[in-house]
Amino acid sequence: MITIGDVNGMRGWYRLWKKYGRTIGFVPTMGALHAGHLSLVQRVRERADAVVVSLFVNPTQFGPQEDFARYPRQPEKDFALLQGSGCDLVFQPKVETIYPPGHTTVVEPGGPAEGLEGALRPGHFRGVATVVCALFNLVRPDVAVFGQKDAQQLAVIRRMVRDLHLPVEILAGETVREEDGLALSSRNVYLSPEERRAAPVLYRALQAAKQAIAAGERSGEAVRRVLREVLEREPLARVEYAEVVDAESFQPVATVAGSVVLPLAVRIGGTRLIDNVQLVAGH
Ligand code: PAJ
Repeated sequence: MITIGDVNGMRGWYRLWKKYGRTIGFVPTMGALHAGHLSLVQRVRERADAVVVSLFVNPTQFGPQEDFARYPRQPEKDFALLQGSGCDLVFQPKVETIYPPGHTTVVEPGGPAEGLEGALRPGHFRGVATVVCALFNLVRPDVAVFGQKDAQQLAVIRRMVRDLHLPVEILAGETVREEDGLALSSRNVYLSPEERRAAPVLYRALQAAKQAIAAGERSGEAVRRVLREVLEREPLARVEYAEVVDAESFQPVATVAGSVVLPLAVRIGGTRLIDNVQLVAGH
């Protein structure tokens, strides 16, 4: 496994790999790696000859009041986790490598980027789309994988790739969870022991709503109520949204039909957690 931080280094490796006809798989991350990230490495490994993982805490996707400064950074531990994971190359650029001085060009995603996270975190998906587009141009992957855990981000990336004709196939990786259902997240380290005990309420709410749909519930409002009822029973939880949206457009649905996502954003004490399930419902 090798590490590269600069543009010319990446170009050199890209040319070498392509010369030998090898396909490139890519897993973009912000580091502070956990088993969820490593599952994405495995997923893309099955589809590509060489795997690149990027570690880059992207400043432009954090709002001014958000946790950019205290976001966990542990590159040594990340390298140790990536050794033997199936990763061939770690791309660890500096901020000024991704954003050259005087950088002004952005990707404004629109569409699925507009509601939910996009509404509560203005500019977030602009930052995500811009950095992912730049990373795609540096790594030039044939295939890239994104976690279903960030379902709206996945929808935004799929839309960008389609709209801008980016020559990369996008795969989705299933959400990896703790035994009690809490989705693994680099931000889980912010939770106090008491908050950690409360956090699986997101998973319980999603399970309850999923069961209601399996039992025949088709009203979007009724499913939102089920989500809220479970979440509001937890005193430490403050709901930011609990929705039922179309999986592609991320617009709220009145009737549950076809491919839908149930996305949640909930504050547990001071920590903001997101989670979701995706399912296909008949009419
Ligand atoms: P980060 O939060 O580090 O996540 C990197 C990738 O890991 C994303 O595709 C995310 O959906 C996935 N992931 C996170 N938790 C997961 C879990 N429990 N199970 C499976 N996959 C999981 O998402 C980002 O970074 C950034 O926005 C990025 C795309 C790198 C752009 O900066």
